[in-house]
Amino acid sequence: MGCDHTLIDLALVNARILTDHGLIKGGIAINDGKICSIDPEEHLPKAFTTINMQGNLVLPGLIDVHTHLRDLNLEHKEDFYSGTCAALAGGFTTVLDMPNTVPLTDSALRLQAKMAVASGRIVANTGFYTCLPAEVTELKRLKDLGAMGCKVYLHNPHTMLDVDDDNVLLHTLQVLEDLDMILTIHAEDRYLIEDLVAKFQAAATSSPRIRSKTHPPQAEVKAVQRVLSLIRGRCPRLHFCHISTGKASSLISQAKVEGLSVTYEVTPHHLFLSETLLGKVGSLAFVEPPLRRSTTRRGLWRDLLTGSIDVVASDHAPHALKEKRHSDLWAVPSGFPGLETTLPLLLTMVARGKLSLERLVAVLARNPARIFRLDGKGVIAAGFDADLTVVDMDKEFIIDSSAFYSKAKYSPFDGMKVVGQPVQVFLGGNLVMDKGEVVSKPGSGTILRPSLPAVG
Ligand code: DOR
Ligand code: ZN
Repeated sequence: MGCDHTLIDLALVNARILTDHGLIKGGIAINDGKICSIDPEEHLPKAFTTINMQGNLVLPGLIDVHTHLRDLNLEHKEDFYSGTCAALAGGFTTVLDMPNTVPLTDSALRLQAKMAVASGRIVANTGFYTCLPAEVTELKRLKDLGAMGCKVYLHNPHTMLDVDDDNVLLHTLQVLEDLDMILTIHAEDRYLIEDLVAKFQAAATSSPRIRSKTHPPQAEVKAVQRVLSLIRGRCPRLHFCHISTGKASSLISQAKVEGLSVTYEVTPHHLFLSETLLGKVGSLAFVEPPLRRSTTRRGLWRDLLTGSIDVVASDHAPHALKEKRHSDLWAVPSGFPGLETTLPLLLTMVARGKLSLERLVAVLARNPARIFRLDGKGVIAAGFDADLTVVDMDKEFIIDSSAFYSKAKYSPFDGMKVVGQPVQVFLGGNLVMDKGEVVSKPGSGTILRPSLPAVG
């Protein structure tokens, strides 16, 4: 596809553009919200507006498949506007919002109500997950309305369906397969965790370490094994969230080799942090699954570099600071913000020569778009949406959560020195973030729905 207009809307010039064919120096021609060509500057068509990229790196707009925007009734933690501003500031053009909200997103009516509120508030492209509804028949309505996928929390089900029962889970998987809907899974074994919580609570001992021990590596491994054994011989679309152990990572990789249509993500916190942080920042670092040992963390890096990990997702899970500092450690919610730290952390590894830009773009844009069927996204090429993330690779800075757009102004990464900063973001050819500032209006984001599968 070329530019069949003599005057196009926008030309981005003096850029280093990361395409599927490598890094190209030149410009991007944009018309009607789409990329129409990538060319040396002298071959670009005339444009109504031209913006000089100052030699910065232009990446496909990044996609976070695991974001908790919290709206509707948890607005004190985050809302659609603050959360999607955090996305843009962090270089993400698209987020997929998790359904464990208040109320839960678990019916077509509730999803519709959520979308209605979101449409006036979002500034980034936003898709929505649903929890498993009380009746599996509701899944068809949810799909027709545009649910991007279905999420199940095996350790804390958030559904009336008895997903502890293999037959129920299997039937649900069958319905999802027939609907061609993806199931994303928080894989931790509920019973193992509940037993440990009961044991430690009865002993009336608590410390950040002890609380963390209630989510042992075996809980993840057991849940992953259970799901993988259920789907052998079947073909549902399955995506494992925030895998945190080497064993689970290798089990899923092996299942992929055997031909199962499974994918998985890891988070920046499991890649960059380890459990020793609990001794330094205490309950602030609580997250599920918890931070693991350094050796585990290094193993995940190996799996990221070899290509077996499909996606890096922020698991942006904001809570009020007061909640994170609750004096009763068992009452502290898990999770912390991640949208504004994920890209700089990974770019730092690129700057150090530890991670290739191609791999970064694969796990933050290309693979998410493919797995969640976000047609027209994840790649810089003619015909694709002009969702772009511009990065200054020379910019060094210290992570400072007080400057976050997220309402959660704390981070386990606070004080960390990073290299590489998102400086501009374009959404459908519109400049929406400039030098760290969101410059678009609430409601200017688009609600995404999954595309139909490609034929052939
Ligand atoms: O740490 C977490 N926080 N893990 C989850 O699975 C849920 C999330 C949240 O919603 O806060
Ligand atoms: Zn989550």
